[in-house]
Amino acid sequence: MRIGVLTGGGDCPGLNAVIRAVVRKAINDHGDTVVGFLDAWDGVLEMRSMELTVETMRGTLPHGGTILGTRRGSPYDTDGGPQRVREVMNIMSIDALIVIGGNGSLTVASRLHDEVGINVLGVPKTIDNDVEGTDVCFGFHTAVQTATDAIDRLHTTAESHDRIMVVEVMGRDTGWIATYAGIAGGATAVLIPERPFNIEYIAEAVKRKHARGKFASIVVVAEGAMPAEGTMPMPQYDLDPYGRHRLGGISVEVARELFQRTGFETRVVQIGHVQRGGTPAAFDRVLCTRLGVAAVTALHEGVEASMVAVKGDDIVTVPLHDMVGKTRYVDLSLYDNVATVFFG
Ligand code: F6P
Repeated sequence: MRIGVLTGGGDCPGLNAVIRAVVRKAINDHGDTVVGFLDAWDGVLEMRSMELTVETMRGTLPHGGTILGTRRGSPYDTDGGPQRVREVMNIMSIDALIVIGGNGSLTVASRLHDEVGINVLGVPKTIDNDVEGTDVCFGFHTAVQTATDAIDRLHTTAESHDRIMVVEVMGRDTGWIATYAGIAGGATAVLIPERPFNIEYIAEAVKRKHARGKFASIVVVAEGAMPAEGTMPMPQYDLDPYGRHRLGGISVEVARELFQRTGFETRVVQIGHVQRGGTPAAFDRVLCTRLGVAAVTALHEGVEASMVAVKGDDIVTVPLHDMVGKTRYVDLSLYDNVATVFFG
């Protein structure tokens, strides 16, 4: 078999670990050849690629980012793009394409299978952890650890100055990182997109905590969190070239409102892309390795238009149709019954 691989969308710790596992399994166990497309779908459309061998992958397991490069955007943004993908697969004799990506890339993969007959197999990735059909996406646990490490450090400086620290983490549509890092980091409040927040309640929680003589409050805010209608000014965002809101900054508005309502000095920390960079945690390295191996096995078993996914302790395959158009939101029982117990 000749297998193509690409990484699409925002990068994420563990991408190289998946590619490495694909290459090892495909070459050593099946005698396949593997070609990596550079810069996601751009590399497919422009036929920019590199041959991937056991040697080229050496030493990449702990490296963050992706040796293939990644981009947002899709063949559907270009006239004749999907047909061009078909043509390139034929010219390069690619039998199957492994797409390592989040909701956007996996949806594109599903359409390319249905509309131009590409044999695709997905591997779900995103630190946001919001792909439907898998219990967890690789990269998420590394991002949570990075955010938690930052919160731990912020506790001591916040305590010394008796300040509120508003910590903004990634999470466009869902508050997975915020909820996990908030629980792990002992946050006074966690604001997530799934639950529009009332700033007045958050201010009350902070005041309650300070009234008990507890200094320092850490308020964790997912970048996509929104205030409940009419409670404070709604944040305004520009659009990026892909028509998505260019998020970032809700923490500034939350900090301003908290200062006005509590009088406590407030500081803002946006962790941003630090969460996406750097070496994957051991958990993610193992997960990525399992997913990469499973992707090659699935292709050789004739599985098509599916993604490898985590179900409990197992790696399974799930049809891409099951995830298209869906978002995996935070388990609200975790948020409502656990995280909120520690608010205030
Ligand atoms: O990969 C998803 C994500 O981490 C979102 O949480 C965030 O909004 C987005 O990436 C930002 O990505 P970029 O700066 O690459 O456009």
